[in-house]
Amino acid sequence: MRKFSEHFLWGGAVSANQCEGAFREDGKGLSTADLLCRETYGKDELELSLNPDYYYPCHTAIDFYHTWRADLCLFAEMGFKCFRLSVPWSRIFPNGDDEEPNEKALRHYDELFDECRRLGIEPLVTLSHCEMPVALLRKYGGWKNRTLIDLFARYAETMFTRYREKVKYWITFNEINFIFMKGFLYQNGGVLLRPGDSLKELQYQVAHNQFVANAKCVKLCHEIIPGSYISAMMEAAIAYPPTCSPEDVLLAQKSNQEYTYAYLDVLLKGEYPYYWRKRIREEQLSVDMREEDFRILKEGTGDYIPFSYYMSRMPVDLCKVDLSNNSGRAVFENPYLKTSQWGWSIDPAGLRIVANDFYTRYAKPLFVVENGLGARDILTEDEKVHDDYRISYLREHIRQLRLAVDDGVEILGYTTWGCIDLVSQSTGEMSKRYGFIYVDLNDDGTGTQKRYKKDSFYWYQRVIGSNGEDLGEAL
Ligand code: BG6
Repeated sequence: MRKFSEHFLWGGAVSANQCEGAFREDGKGLSTADLLCRETYGKDELELSLNPDYYYPCHTAIDFYHTWRADLCLFAEMGFKCFRLSVPWSRIFPNGDDEEPNEKALRHYDELFDECRRLGIEPLVTLSHCEMPVALLRKYGGWKNRTLIDLFARYAETMFTRYREKVKYWITFNEINFIFMKGFLYQNGGVLLRPGDSLKELQYQVAHNQFVANAKCVKLCHEIIPGSYISAMMEAAIAYPPTCSPEDVLLAQKSNQEYTYAYLDVLLKGEYPYYWRKRIREEQLSVDMREEDFRILKEGTGDYIPFSYYMSRMPVDLCKVDLSNNSGRAVFENPYLKTSQWGWSIDPAGLRIVANDFYTRYAKPLFVVENGLGARDILTEDEKVHDDYRISYLREHIRQLRLAVDDGVEILGYTTWGCIDLVSQSTGEMSKRYGFIYVDLNDDGTGTQKRYKKDSFYWYQRVIGSNGEDLGEAL
């Protein structure tokens, strides 16, 4: 049986808004994530101001902006070969369109990337992970405005130039296909929904503008950092047909075209598929797409497919899913699968299916940049966290990944989501924990912020130490 390659990048992933805190420090501008709180998570309509009566989890988060040195040491102790993190656009350009970048922020990441390298950890950097400067929303209305394409490319160019010697792996946009999930127009597109707006038109416009921005960045990155890997990232939640009736199979196919393949086609082939163009035409959606855009898309195709994998799904219209149950995402009943405490289906074999599917269609190397189980952990009196459920979840997914490798799929690495506990992206809770490291912080912001190693910490250390050979006993 084929093994993981000796260069396989084992590690973990976080995003800035969910872990850094320090939301006003060192010249950082206000970011769209800074306005999220219990009252606003999952909404596309909100006030662009802070309410002193509300608690905003991202303002302090797990304080990673200050604790990163010690936290990186813990990652190194687990044997990480790779650490995926994001940089907030609002740290580098506080208003998004400032004349000069913020030198203090650039220096901060200089130090962080240097330390990663010193510890033998390859940084993988996301340029846009569910946040952007609020000023860009106020001034231009967010990603529905084409002006953002060049502003983003300028931010990216600043990053590539500054860190050309330090960072080889890049992601432009986190889960670029998430824009079609209800409630993510604001988080992913920096756009507010106003009465009378066509949600669909806005979603298509944001997607198009981000595609063009992505392609520009890919081209720039190739010019500035030869040998780099760059693309936008996908949420890989493939729809299964509910039954084997041809109608259901067609339904699943259409859902996958709409939510997954169309994106991958633009990112990797540089062109819109026929069904996407047909929909825009037939539904008479007014989307500003220009001749020059299509040339740019062709010139900037990605080198790899970074994706998150949490679950498989059913072919439902993601625009209409009700998120009011606080699951943070559309949940789907599949009688063959168990679910997490938040109702997300647990489908390890789906990871192998997705990996084969993507590789068959696009023949580009894959990188699993997010996978993990959000669960309520208990810190015992003797300061332990017995998270056997997390070990079991990760073990089964890694087992399926190994099978995908054996199938012949090229996979560059695997970074688990939220390698240290952090704020949930969809609900703002701390109690939805993913980490190998427990952070003493509660949903209301109380807690000591102290770090504790969970059982999974030692387990993952063994997995990495054996390059994925020792997955421990099956539970
Ligand atoms: C991914 C996001 O969609 O899912 C992460 O890229 C997020 O930012 C992760 O944290 C898990 O989702 P949640 O809502 O449980 O935090």
